[in-house]
Amino acid sequence: MAAILDNKHIDAIMTSLMDGIITFDRNGVIIMANKAAENLFLVRKGGLQGRTLEEIGDEVSSMIGEVLLRGNEVFAEMLIQPRTQIYRVHVMPIKSDNRDIEGAVAVFRDVTDARNFDQMRSEFVGNVSHELRTPLTSIKGFVETLLDGAMENSAICRRFLSIIDTETERLSRLIEDLLTLSSIESKERIINPRPVCLIRSIRSVMNIMGPQISEKSLHVEFICEPDLALIYADEDLLNQVLINLLDNAIKYTPREGKVIIRSLRSDSRVITTVTDTGMGIPHDSLPRVFERFYRVDKARSRHQGGTGLGLAIVKHIVESHGGEVFVESEHGKGSTFGVSFLVV
Ligand SMILES: Nc1ncnc2c1ncn2[C@@H]1O[C@H](COP(=O)(O)OP(=O)(O)OP(=O)(O)O)[C@@H](O)[C@H]1O
Ligand SMILES: [Mg+2]
Repeated sequence: MAAILDNKHIDAIMTSLMDGIITFDRNGVIIMANKAAENLFLVRKGGLQGRTLEEIGDEVSSMIGEVLLRGNEVFAEMLIQPRTQIYRVHVMPIKSDNRDIEGAVAVFRDVTDARNFDQMRSEFVGNVSHELRTPLTSIKGFVETLLDGAMENSAICRRFLSIIDTETERLSRLIEDLLTLSSIESKERIINPRPVCLIRSIRSVMNIMGPQISEKSLHVEFICEPDLALIYADEDLLNQVLINLLDNAIKYTPREGKVIIRSLRSDSRVITTVTDTGMGIPHDSLPRVFERFYRVDKARSRHQGGTGLGLAIVKHIVESHGGEVFVESEHGKGSTFGVSFLVV
């Protein structure tokens, strides 16, 4: 025997829906509103019943008015006061068997996340295009000047080719960074955490960065307890984190400055900080430095070959390992970047 839905079942269904649903009679008086709709309009249980459509806001009421008058379906996206979410509102007529308009039903769906995502995606595409266009425009300009005759002069030719070389390098680094970021984000790059000796990784990264450190005559020191616990990490990704932090400390610290790396155990984590005596970061930029493409001083960072993706990569890697990132800085005096990893 087929089960029949009674009012109790219908009530349960309406209450469990995430979308707000309100039904109106032909005069625009509310017959029924589910819990999501009551939450949306900030009223207590049963508080919408019997109210008229004028009481629930101009924009929605004119949509419902139109449906009750013409009998057509209407859609719109809107902010409903005092909320900050964006709702997609769909209003349909309720018709009798002989097609008379008997009322209307309005469905309110929260589309805030989808819209924010769309905006983030278009901002991201805009940023990437801009970052790709800048070196490409410069390469094109130099190639054209060379073809126009500058290549006859071997000194100029060499100078232009070396600029083209640098810009090409930038382009390929940008693409590599974007691929790293997207492979971690899409979980395509499988993280392979194993017990790792952080002390060994830090020493090896300090070695890799040796030439840049000596070129700027920086004093780089590593301080940690000798029996530091092993951490769980994917070693290649951990090295990327350390290289990015040390690279920044070196890049943004003037000659003969100091960089101190510290690792210490704190409960079930090992916290590693990189402190420099560099230019520091203005207070209002601090919350933004881990965003993709964010650079405090765009011109200076670009001049140093930066794409603004280093810290975004650091944050992604660390968080995908269950750790955290943080930054403290005093503008003009120096910065401290920190990352935490779980101990074995
Ligand atoms: N140690 C630091 N001292 C001062 N500013 C810093 C430091 N580290 C990062 N920043 C600021 O944060 C911005 C973002 O850093 P991030 O590493 O993401 O990008 P980048 O260094 O510009 O480029 P990339 O790392 O991709 O080569 C930098 O442009 C810089 O303005
Ligand atoms: Mg960087």
